[in-house]
Amino acid sequence: MKYLIANWKMHDVDVERWLEQFLSVDISNSSLNIRISSNLFDMSKFIEAMPIENIFLNKPFWMAQDVSQNVDGAYTGQISSKILKKIQTAGCIVGHSELRENGDSNEIIYQKGCRLKEDGISPIVLCVGESLEILEKNEREIFLVNQLKSFFKNGLVPNIVAYEPIWAIGTGKSASIESINAAFNIILNFLKDINLKEIPILYGGSVSLENIEEILSIELISGCLVGNSSLDGKEFARIAAKF
Ligand code: 13P
Repeated sequence: MKYLIANWKMHDVDVERWLEQFLSVDISNSSLNIRISSNLFDMSKFIEAMPIENIFLNKPFWMAQDVSQNVDGAYTGQISSKILKKIQTAGCIVGHSELRENGDSNEIIYQKGCRLKEDGISPIVLCVGESLEILEKNEREIFLVNQLKSFFKNGLVPNIVAYEPIWAIGTGKSASIESINAAFNIILNFLKDINLKEIPILYGGSVSLENIEEILSIELISGCLVGNSSLDGKEFARIAAKF
């Protein structure tokens, strides 16, 4: 099974228009698991605009971009996994670099993963990825393994790992095939070392209609996490049609 996840981040997407654009492209031939990760406001618009019966016809599902590490209580501005469950969120991203930059440590990300697991939110998508500085210092392996190790503990296992090099996010310059392959091998070797396999690995970072075919030629890839190119429903659907 291949995955394609749109990450709308905080962009103000016109959901109705997006869906119209998205549905204008025939993607019936691609056996894809599609998710839209949007903010809560968009999610409610999404639920309104998307007739419920379509949700079960391999059409996109909405997922959350973040969750609180806290269970419940006085945490202004945060959203708990229990609430995500109530609003039928089909999964959640944790560890996105934009949240790591904003203070999410490896430990906080682990706690967020625990909350999602406790409430049965699936898939849990763990993002990992290094900065350009780390890449240039040749410290990518140790850095990625550290991010992974601090999440995969006490039985917590994400359903999907997304490799998103920070230097490729929003820059229009995706990582090269060789670089993605090298990072995927680091992740796979880590999984092997802890006797786990079969976790889908996605790539994210300037995925576009121009480079999607090349990216999908990577043997180990199970899909993509798409930012800017997911904001236009038609472009995103045309990317989906390449799967
Ligand atoms: P871009 O596709 O805009 O580079 O964003 C990638 C990303 O951060 C997805 O989570």
